[in-house]
Amino acid sequence: MLSNLLIVLLVFVIISFAIFLVSLLLFYLSGFISLMFGAPYIPLSRKYIRKILSFGNISSNDTLYDFGCGDGRILISGVSDFNVLKAVGYEIAPWPYLKTLFSIKLKRLKKISIFRKNFLKADIGQATFIYLYLFIKLVDKVAYKIAREGIPGTKILCVQFPIDTNKHTEFELLKSTKIDNLTIYLYKLKPRDSSK
Ligand SMILES: C[S@@+](CC[C@H](N)C(=O)[O-])C[C@H]1O[C@@H](n2cnc3c(N)ncnc32)[C@H](O)[C@@H]1O
Repeated sequence: MLSNLLIVLLVFVIISFAIFLVSLLLFYLSGFISLMFGAPYIPLSRKYIRKILSFGNISSNDTLYDFGCGDGRILISGVSDFNVLKAVGYEIAPWPYLKTLFSIKLKRLKKISIFRKNFLKADIGQATFIYLYLFIKLVDKVAYKIAREGIPGTKILCVQFPIDTNKHTEFELLKSTKIDNLTIYLYKLKPRDSSK
């Protein structure tokens, strides 16, 4: 009887340890993948999310895209606090991707779709509000993509790292502000220049 109990206990300890090791591996692997793609997984502090999205004048008519959505907190706030039509996230690293998937299933947020995919290969044909919290080089790459494929009038909200409007003349800076030590920029994609 006692030996059976010991075996069960041992199996339990081994399984728990294996789960712990796999999670740890996934966590570090994710950190490495995020860095390789150009932006580490640093989620925006929850206390700023509503303020920042309000600053972007996000509305219930918007389809929100978060490029590099981390654990999905922006998408979740977009749906829960601003009732956006739809929220779409792209996340390359497996750990935050799984966290998002878990949260949206748990909260039954059917308006959110998430893809474990490079956002530079995303279909952005439906986006009307794009949120970016990425390093400057990635913002630059994404700006080319949005200028090429985005719907004119789309709002782009950048946290901390702006779009260079001297280089990307397709974007108009509507406003910017400082919230504690974060600078937020709101842009609009201009109508396409038919002479180009
Ligand atoms: C600074 S975090 C922002 C997380 C979230 N958007 C937020 O504000 O809380 C940047 C995220 O972008 C992801 N990322 C970086 N490059 C990516 C790419 N090319 N495609 C998809 N996700 C990417 C990283 O894995 C990381 O989770």
